[in-house]
Amino acid sequence: MAKTIDLAENYDEAVSKGSDILRHGGLVAVPTETVYGLAADACNAKAVERIYSAKGRPAFNPLISHVSGIQMAQQFGVFDDRAAVLAREFWPGALTIVLPLKPGTKLAAAVTAGLDTIALRHPVGAMADLARRLDRLIAAPSANSSGRISPTKAEHVADGLGDKIDLILDGGPCAVGLESTVVKCLDGKIALLREGGVSREEIEAVAGPISDQSFGEIEAPGMMLKHYAPSKPVRLDADHAENGEALLGFGPKANGAALNLSPSGNLEEVARNLFAMLHELDRMDCSGIAVQHIPETGIGAAINDRLRRAAAGSAK
Ligand code: TXA
Ligand code: MG
Repeated sequence: MAKTIDLAENYDEAVSKGSDILRHGGLVAVPTETVYGLAADACNAKAVERIYSAKGRPAFNPLISHVSGIQMAQQFGVFDDRAAVLAREFWPGALTIVLPLKPGTKLAAAVTAGLDTIALRHPVGAMADLARRLDRLIAAPSANSSGRISPTKAEHVADGLGDKIDLILDGGPCAVGLESTVVKCLDGKIALLREGGVSREEIEAVAGPISDQSFGEIEAPGMMLKHYAPSKPVRLDADHAENGEALLGFGPKANGAALNLSPSGNLEEVARNLFAMLHELDRMDCSGIAVQHIPETGIGAAINDRLRRAAAGSAK
């Protein structure tokens, strides 16, 4: 079982330990503001291969590369004006930008699954500090087995992948709780590939309209998979729990709920709690999970995207 180090106890020592392991080709689970990532040196092909096998991830699904800042990102991706605005406005933060890959870099080919584009993100916290210390890009998908719910606490990582990785850095619960938004910037257009921690409205307010029509090879390859699934059936827009289900409530009127995503009806709080509560209900003595209606506004779009995937991908 991987050792867990608490970042709150001695941050510098923990980051130094993590970067030593990464430098030698190891795998480290690292907290970000969105979810925990499974990190490897993006220029070490063997280490990147270990990410795919630890997660059981299909080889066609490329990874996000994490950077310490825009300068590191510019060495690998070609930023057009709108991409530069997005990075300036939302980094460090919950936005991943897919860009044309610069030719001739030392990036392991498996990071981009052989595509000629690269997904770049400057996250908040330890992941960026590791990239700075290593002076390398860090490839990191969410630190869960492929198809399962993303981890928002160190113990979720230990439960799911603890025997397959070298170290877990524990930074407590993630502040946003949903994965980053993924956009693709090409030829002056922006396409939204995955809803996430930064909303469509926030992006459009600073960078202008998102093209509704995707372009190029279109979707984030990972979005074709059934994702974010608990092992129990999930029923959406439920009023109340039925035979053996547990109710996942929302708002002040969630009578009889086993857990409440946000008693005050706050969508940021729902995002923070969603994956942890799905993990918890998965372990609870119930036959299914009934979820009350969550509004689609702002981050509600990403919350509902994850819930629909959980409902589609769970055992029926
Ligand atoms: O918040 C997050 O994004 C977390 C943290 C750890 O950064 N990471 C994460 O990674 O959620 P992952 O691998 O679970 O999801 C990455 C998504 C996938 O849907 C993948 O297909 C897409 O990004 N992606 C990566 N590279 C791409 C590319 N070159 N073109 C299109 N989509 C890409
Ligand atoms: Mg994932």
